[in-house]
Amino acid sequence: MAVKVLGISTSPRREGNSDLLLRKALGGAQQAGAATEHLRLCDYRIEGCHECYDCSQTGDCSTRDDYQAILDKMLDADRLVFATPVFFMTVSAQAKLLIDRGQCLWVRQTVLRRPLFEPKHDRRGVLIAVGGSRSQRQFDCVRQPIQGFFKYLEVEYAGSLCVNQVDEKGAILKRPDALDEAFRLGRMLASTEMGLPQRPLKIELF
Ligand SMILES: Cc1cc2nc3c(=O)[nH]c(=O)nc-3n(C[C@H](O)[C@H](O)[C@H](O)COP(=O)(O)O)c2cc1C
Repeated sequence: MAVKVLGISTSPRREGNSDLLLRKALGGAQQAGAATEHLRLCDYRIEGCHECYDCSQTGDCSTRDDYQAILDKMLDADRLVFATPVFFMTVSAQAKLLIDRGQCLWVRQTVLRRPLFEPKHDRRGVLIAVGGSRSQRQFDCVRQPIQGFFKYLEVEYAGSLCVNQVDEKGAILKRPDALDEAFRLGRMLASTEMGLPQRPLKIELF
């Protein structure tokens, strides 16, 4: 059966720079034989975590919106590609809403000790991030929440592609190096022959 790769685009800008890189990565995954799906977070209605702690009893989020549908897709996938622009030194607000709703997953794993997958699945994910400024350090503030998010989704963090100095819509199209790396990253992620890299890949185009 084909590897299922879910791409999550978290920019509010349709076909923005991070989204174009994500689409390239999904193209690479398709070339490796994967079945891919592209999900645009802005097309869904997601509230922030209400901090009600209902999930501390059940491990499930009690807020009724589109989160459950997205969670189902994330649990169904073998591979995740998470794409975000850098907004004020971290992920987009849309991405943060989704990450915070993962509190119920944190509860499942660390309080209720109820794993999502038994036996464990081979699930892997990568991050794609773009920023307009010259800053390099800001990408650490993007990697960290995504690594935590993947952990509670039981997804091995396999690496990141971070590109700076990309600002106007479509500017990434003038960066063939970044487009090529995204394609390669997607292909690598979907390849069934390739094991997990010993250390997460850190592709930085600064
Ligand atoms: C609200 C907002 C905050 C931003 N903050 C940063 C920032 O902290 N660092 C940076 O490098 N770029 C920042 N940018 C620029 C975007 O990261 C940049 O334009 C990027 O290419 C947008 O990607 P997208 O087209 O995928 O949305 C910001 C842009 C906006 C709209």
